[in-house]
Amino acid sequence: MANMNLVQLTHPLVKTYITKIRDKNTSYFEFRQYVDKLSTLLAYEAAKELELKPKKIKTPLASVKGYELKNEVVLMPILRAGLGLMNGFNHIFPEARISHLGVYRNEETLKPVKYYFKFPKLTDKKNAIVFILDPMLATGGSMSYAIDELKKAGIKKIVVASLVSAPEGVKEIRRKHKDVKIFTCALDTHLDDRGYIVPGLGDAGDRLFGTL
Ligand code: PRP
Ligand code: URA
Repeated sequence: MANMNLVQLTHPLVKTYITKIRDKNTSYFEFRQYVDKLSTLLAYEAAKELELKPKKIKTPLASVKGYELKNEVVLMPILRAGLGLMNGFNHIFPEARISHLGVYRNEETLKPVKYYFKFPKLTDKKNAIVFILDPMLATGGSMSYAIDELKKAGIKKIVVASLVSAPEGVKEIRRKHKDVKIFTCALDTHLDDRGYIVPGLGDAGDRLFGTL
């Protein structure tokens, strides 16, 4: 799928870990471990979106021009399944603020239903970058809703981090939010008639938390 706003990870470890979490015989605790590893690799790749500003420092020997991050970083997992990506992202961005968005998909209409949203007060909103964390980008309804909420809150730079995406979801984000870049570990073929990603991995929240 030709899309300037989509980055699909090609690292060999990503391919093997994705295979592990797709496998229906992988237990919920192994699933959680591999999602954790994937989230670190995904965070590292998505961190390429950060901007730098110059910073002069002194080593014990001389002055040197270095860098610091220009952006205040916010991580926003979409509850519940987005919590699975938190450890890896927090490992890469230890100073990030954390916002939570509670949204679930109505099983019949497939439309997002919001039940919680908490966003931090930022000192420099103009330079903030928000990484939205959700393992599954299916119809794109939940993600698009999350982006709308952030834009209403005045956020300009938004990055989507997903493990498995459907072409339908990617198109939906491209249609509504051209300015938002998506990082994903896998781009699958289609959605089934219940809105599940095929081949996908099933219900991410249930597999992650052992609530099947
Ligand atoms: C899953 C997933 C996404 C959403 C994707 O959440 O984690 O948030 O579905 O589907 P969409 O792109 O069609 O909106 P779910 O609604 O199952 O909630 P849960 O994480 O609480 O289980
Ligand atoms: N949500 C999931 O957890 N899995 C899918 O395949 C689609 C939406």
